[in-house]
Amino acid sequence: MKNGCLSIIVIAAIGLLIIGCTSGEQMVDVAKITSQPKEYVGSETCKTCHLQHYDSWKATNHSRMAQDVTENEDAFIVDINQKVITADFKKLEAAGKLKLPIDKIYFPKKDEIKYTLGNEWKQRFIVEKEGVLYITPIQFNTESGRWVNYHEHDWDKRPWLLKCGGCHTTGVKLDKDNPAMGSFTEPGVGCEACHGAGSWHVALPKTALFEKRQTIVNPAKLPRGTAVQICGSCHNRGKSTMQKGAGWPVGYMPGKALEPYYTSTSYAAGDKSHVYPNEFAKKHHQQYIDWMQSEHRREGVTCTSCHSVHQLGMPTTRFQTKEAGSKSCLSCHVQTSQNMAHSIHSFANCIGCHMPRIAKSAESADIHSHVFKTLLPSETLQNPEIPNSCQTCHKHKDANLIELQKRFEVLASMPTPKGKAIESVNAYK
Ligand code: HEC
Ligand code: HEC
Ligand code: HEC
Ligand code: HEC
Ligand code: HEC
Ligand code: HEC
Ligand code: HEC
Ligand code: HEC
Repeated sequence: MKNGCLSIIVIAAIGLLIIGCTSGEQMVDVAKITSQPKEYVGSETCKTCHLQHYDSWKATNHSRMAQDVTENEDAFIVDINQKVITADFKKLEAAGKLKLPIDKIYFPKKDEIKYTLGNEWKQRFIVEKEGVLYITPIQFNTESGRWVNYHEHDWDKRPWLLKCGGCHTTGVKLDKDNPAMGSFTEPGVGCEACHGAGSWHVALPKTALFEKRQTIVNPAKLPRGTAVQICGSCHNRGKSTMQKGAGWPVGYMPGKALEPYYTSTSYAAGDKSHVYPNEFAKKHHQQYIDWMQSEHRREGVTCTSCHSVHQLGMPTTRFQTKEAGSKSCLSCHVQTSQNMAHSIHSFANCIGCHMPRIAKSAESADIHSHVFKTLLPSETLQNPEIPNSCQTCHKHKDANLIELQKRFEVLASMPTPKGKAIESVNAYK
């Protein structure tokens, strides 16, 4: 009797335990979580579980694009010194490069600046005026160390969030009534710019592993086409199809097709200031437009074939390439022909010819072409508006392009076979 009672109690306890455990799992109502709107949560939240990925991202320029100077004064790479700035502007004025006289130009004071933009090629500065964020008319060029003008005549007609915001911050929401205004989750290119809004992923417990994976975008698991379009949503230039006046793909989410949200610029469509007549990029953030024209695209060689976004546990290389310089090419092109164009030089600088620096971010020729095609002197001879790879090195000495092209043709032509035909070959006919 006693034993029977005890065993009933034990069985009941086990039963309760089982119910307890299962109902514990049921506490996680996946459907409830995924019925909420999917929101941006910010990189700091991702950090709590993905410290290594956070750490690698922090080391890249993506994390440093737009920075809040009230949180980090070191975001300024240069002092905002009115004397130095106006001295440089006087040189620009003397060269006839300014659209306004210097005393009519707005020079922001340091404490008016809210965000910095960039630091690799140049730095620009954001101020607020009547609740709208604008890009100020001063720009610091990192390599040359000089100050230059930027839209000094109409800077307060170009709202930052509408024109540029989606490419430089994460989780932008433009105001429905006034798209010049809006909000964003964090400045800079955060985790969710490439992985999509993460609130569902974060809310689900580790035990719901598959749901957790399914509620976040892993570009490595996407088809190549949609994966590369994530990079293409920013390394691109054009117009939003959804929001008038926006320079970025408003409404686009990683994993989706980019086309419905964005129209890239082209020379054919009349854009002569950002593209060369052969459709190669003339200005920066057009790597995707270049790449789209390349043989590499057709072969499935994408941005992440050459660039690593996360280089876990080690410092990143310049421009996040997996290999430095021409080694980027040699990992796949183990063997290239040693004749024709490849026989001219005693060195093998693949980048120098195949990715010439013909595009501009801050100063001319500071950005590489991504079509991977060598532009010969003959292309410039046919159309002087088109640059060539050779003159990025052969600048002064070979100013005579016809001569350079001739020397190229002589050196790059296949030697004419000499000697007698082999008699024995005929014997097999
Ligand atoms: C509470 C912890 C937690 C937080 C916070 C979190 N994750 Fe995760 N994440 C996980 C776990 C667990 C997995 C599954 C790991 C696995 O597949 O083995 C995962 C997987 C991933 C994956 C890979 C998915 C796949 O299919 O391979 C990505 C990408 C990812 N997380 C990105 C993020 C981003 C971006 C954020 C911030 C918005 C974030 N995570 C926040 C725990 C978290
Ligand atoms: C379609 C996306 C896109 C738009 C729109 C865009 N940018 Fe950018 N921007 C980029 C990308 C990508 C880079 C880095 C790659 C490059 O420059 O080739 C960049 C680079 C920069 C840099 C230089 C960063 C550095 O470290 O030197 C500055 C400054 C900048 N942008 C300012 C602006 C301003 C101001 C606007 C709006 C008037 C704007 N951008 C519009 C995508 C964009
Ligand atoms: C510029 C785009 C970009 C940004 C920003 C970015 N990632 Fe990624 N992430 C990728 C790509 C692409 C992959 C696919 C793997 C690869 O190519 O390295 C990836 C892979 C991952 C994975 C899965 C790794 C695996 O083992 O499969 C995790 C987790 C992750 N990222 C977390 C983060 C977190 C956390 C942040 C922010 C701190 C972040 N990512 C920022 C592009 C990005
Ligand atoms: C939300 C917009 C955005 C997305 C998405 C994005 N990028 Fe970028 N990327 C930028 C901006 C802006 C910069 C310039 C940051 C700076 O210089 O401050 C940049 C810089 C870079 C650089 C130069 C890094 C350096 O250290 O100077 C590389 C390489 C790059 N991105 C590759 C990629 C790849 C590959 C992807 C896709 C997996 C990608 N980006 C996705 C906006 C983006
Ligand atoms: C075949 C290899 C390869 C592919 C594919 C590739 N890149 Fe690059 N990328 C490079 C190399 C090499 C550099 C120059 C590195 C250096 O100077 O150290 C570079 C430089 C860059 C830079 C720095 C600015 C510049 O142009 O000088 C950005 C940004 C960039 N790549 C983005 C991208 C994006 C986005 C894609 C995809 C649309 C892409 N790359 C595809 C090899 C590649
Ligand atoms: C991930 C592998 C990979 C990397 C890295 C890579 N390539 Fe390629 N490349 C290919 C493949 C595949 C093809 C097409 C087949 C072939 O020609 O070998 C190709 C084709 C080419 C072509 C021929 C295009 C044509 O019109 O026939 C050129 C030129 C080229 N690559 C240059 C480069 C340069 C320069 C680099 C370094 C910046 C590079 N590749 C890096 C895989 C790669
Ligand atoms: C002097 C400029 C120059 C340099 C340096 C150069 N290339 Fe080329 N490459 C060309 C030209 C021009 C062609 C077009 C075919 C020809 O005339 O030989 C070409 C063709 C190619 C092709 C397609 C045809 C083939 O031969 O397979 C590949 C792949 C290629 N180059 C890769 C490379 C790699 C990898 C490097 C670095 C080791 C490199 N190139 C260095 C100018 C150059
Ligand atoms: C990365 C810089 C660089 C690029 C790009 C470059 N060259 Fe050169 N070139 C040199 C240097 C340096 C020499 C000196 C000889 C050597 O080291 O091979 C040279 C030598 C030459 C010579 C003389 C070779 C001889 O044996 O007399 C010719 C002709 C030539 N280059 C043509 C070209 C053409 C055509 C292109 C474009 C397709 C080109 N180069 C691209 C740097 C470059």
